[in-house]
Amino acid sequence: MVLSSNARRHGSAEKSLREVFFCPEESNFYSYCLESMVLNNRVDRDAIVEFGSGDGSPVIKALLRSDFNGKVHGFELNASACKIAIARAQEYELDQHYQLYNASFFEADRPIASVIISNPPYLPAIDNKLYQPLLHGGIDGITITKKLLELGYDEALMMVSSYSNPKGLVDFAAQQGYCVSNFLVSPLPFGYYSSDPKVKSRIAEMREQQEAFYSSQMYCLAGVLFSQRCEMDLTEEFLQVITAL
Ligand SMILES: C[S@@+](CC[C@H](N)C(=O)[O-])C[C@H]1O[C@@H](n2cnc3c(N)ncnc32)[C@H](O)[C@@H]1O
Repeated sequence: MVLSSNARRHGSAEKSLREVFFCPEESNFYSYCLESMVLNNRVDRDAIVEFGSGDGSPVIKALLRSDFNGKVHGFELNASACKIAIARAQEYELDQHYQLYNASFFEADRPIASVIISNPPYLPAIDNKLYQPLLHGGIDGITITKKLLELGYDEALMMVSSYSNPKGLVDFAAQQGYCVSNFLVSPLPFGYYSSDPKVKSRIAEMREQQEAFYSSQMYCLAGVLFSQRCEMDLTEEFLQVITAL
């Protein structure tokens, strides 16, 4: 079979989407949340660990735009993504501030840190046979986020999707001693990964159970700063916004 050049281009774009996470709208929003809720006004000695750095662009952009001069330790299991992230950090002369490790976050020896950040895998599906298996977030999308909150860091910036059982996640966070100290929410169109038929069918089931909130075109993504100590607990306000669709 002979492919047209258009089909070949499309095919290779799809191959790279399957290889390394690529969703600029989402990554840019994560970067903005990181910059505004974590990095700005933070003392430089605070070490930060990151689960799932992807191609490294969110942290690199946030470091370039903030006055934080400390260190972020990023863990990325996907070797291709990690290689790109290392090269980018070097290109922007940020390798002293963004150290990358090609390892599973859970298996690795991690440096002591008070803050964890992540745009974690949050796709709900019955199994991980998805366009990108490493984006699977378990049956209701919050399995990995819950494991990260169980680690007990003082603060955790987590990206939380409105179709991945946000109420269940906030309840779990409260059991771990966290409250919501800050949050930002953005509507996002369903993209390549979230349009996977297995994800679509699972979120339709979850919607019936009041565990997924979305419209035909859009869902909401939130950057949520969970803290072990809150001056003001914004949990109720967050739930009102994330369940609005
Ligand atoms: C939603 S993507 C986010 C990537 C990047 N932070 C961004 O926002 O553009 C989640 C990332 O977590 C990575 N990942 C999944 N399981 C992991 C694990 N156990 N340890 C480290 N990284 C993991 C995936 O390979 C993927 O790159």
